[in-house]
Amino acid sequence: MSKVLIALALCLSLLTGLPAMAADAEEQAQAAIDTRQGLLKVVVSYFGPIVGMARGQIPYDADVVKNNAGKVAVLLPMIPDVFRKDTRDSGLETEALDDIWESMSDFQAKTETATERALALAAATEDGQEAAMKAFGALGAGCKGCHDDYRQQD
Ligand code: HEC
Repeated sequence: MSKVLIALALCLSLLTGLPAMAADAEEQAQAAIDTRQGLLKVVVSYFGPIVGMARGQIPYDADVVKNNAGKVAVLLPMIPDVFRKDTRDSGLETEALDDIWESMSDFQAKTETATERALALAAATEDGQEAAMKAFGALGAGCKGCHDDYRQQD
């Protein structure tokens, strides 16, 4: 191909790319929503078994609590990252409230609080079931502390 043809091909691909980009905006917003909801599903997959133990539905197992709390502490700091994309104007279904993108520093602070409590829970497993369950209550309050302000209530 001559240089002129290459330049022409580039121009055409740029032009035809424009409408595709508009359609992509919705796809990108949906992908961001899927990603953040997916992260929180992983969080609850580690959190859930400890709920079962707190309710006496499954036997208390300090090793599982320690491992799961540690995993939650690794996952939670990803929250601000996966919420970076502002989906307020997407019109797509989500439980995320608009305030997230108006108060990102508070949203981050709430992430840090919950993360510290997950680490505290992992540490508390060394002090017996009662201490661990108390620390678990604090972690649950950390999740709720963010949900109260930034997640649509049922
Ligand atoms: C800093 C804020 C924040 C923290 C901390 C937080 N969440 Fe959430 N969570 C949200 C938001 C916002 C949504 C809604 C996301 C959406 O629908 O796009 C959500 C959604 C969820 C969902 C629903 C996911 C789905 O299926 O769509 C679960 C489950 C969940 N959170 C569990 C937890 C648990 C358990 C913790 C604590 C260990 C926690 N969250 C901590 C903000 C937070």
